[in-house]
Amino acid sequence: MSARTAHARQLFAPLGPNYDRFADLLSFRQDPRWRRFLVSRIPDDALRVLDVASGTAAVAIELARRSPERRIVGIDQSAEMLAAGRTRVERAGLGSRIELREGRAEELPFGDGEFDALTFTYLLRYVDDPAATMRELARVVRPGGTIAMLEFAVPRGLWRPLWELYVRALLPAAGYAVGGRGWWDVGRFLGPSIRGFHARVPLLDLWRDAGIVDVHARRLSVGGGIVVWGVRA
Ligand SMILES: C[S@@+](CC[C@H](N)C(=O)[O-])C[C@H]1O[C@@H](n2cnc3c(N)ncnc32)[C@H](O)[C@@H]1O
Repeated sequence: MSARTAHARQLFAPLGPNYDRFADLLSFRQDPRWRRFLVSRIPDDALRVLDVASGTAAVAIELARRSPERRIVGIDQSAEMLAAGRTRVERAGLGSRIELREGRAEELPFGDGEFDALTFTYLLRYVDDPAATMRELARVVRPGGTIAMLEFAVPRGLWRPLWELYVRALLPAAGYAVGGRGWWDVGRFLGPSIRGFHARVPLLDLWRDAGIVDVHARRLSVGGGIVVWGVRA
């Protein structure tokens, strides 16, 4: 297991039970809005959808609520996040339409073109080879199927210094205040992770190189989040 994978597993292992409450709080309540926009990119007639890095199933549940005939498979490498996700799915009464499975984005346990659409959220910062992972994600979507992702981004212009202040000082402190040591670690990790990822990875090129066409991107909440979507060629 690579150092990056090991770190991601260790980071998320203690977070499952409180993930949704704290993620909501620490993103200034923008997270749910971003997820809704992400899910709105998926056509309602996409009936078999794969949600990768599904975590506590927030996106999978949103996908199910939006289209009543839809079936969703959520996949994540963290058993602990999935355990919290299963409780949430049952509570939402969606157990018959959402299946959560343990697995890695780099080696999806599915055949070519098995899904009508695919979503993934906050994933590519945690993989060693984002380009290869993008190709693997595209592989399991049928030609003409939609792929959409949500990721944090770095705001530009006047918002940039405020963002730096937020991720360097406020985020770790707020994380500690609301969730103790586990969320302090997340708070400290997020800024460099987001900054580093966008500095080294040409995101839209990655999508096109993976055989995805009609690629669009929308920056949300003064550029703190980005949704990218496109169609499998
Ligand atoms: C920030 S959480 C996002 C969870 C969920 N998508 C959401 O929107 O709340 C990131 C998730 O990615 C998962 N993850 C990280 N690297 C992964 C990989 N290589 N394969 C599968 N899941 C991965 C983590 O276990 C974690 O649950």
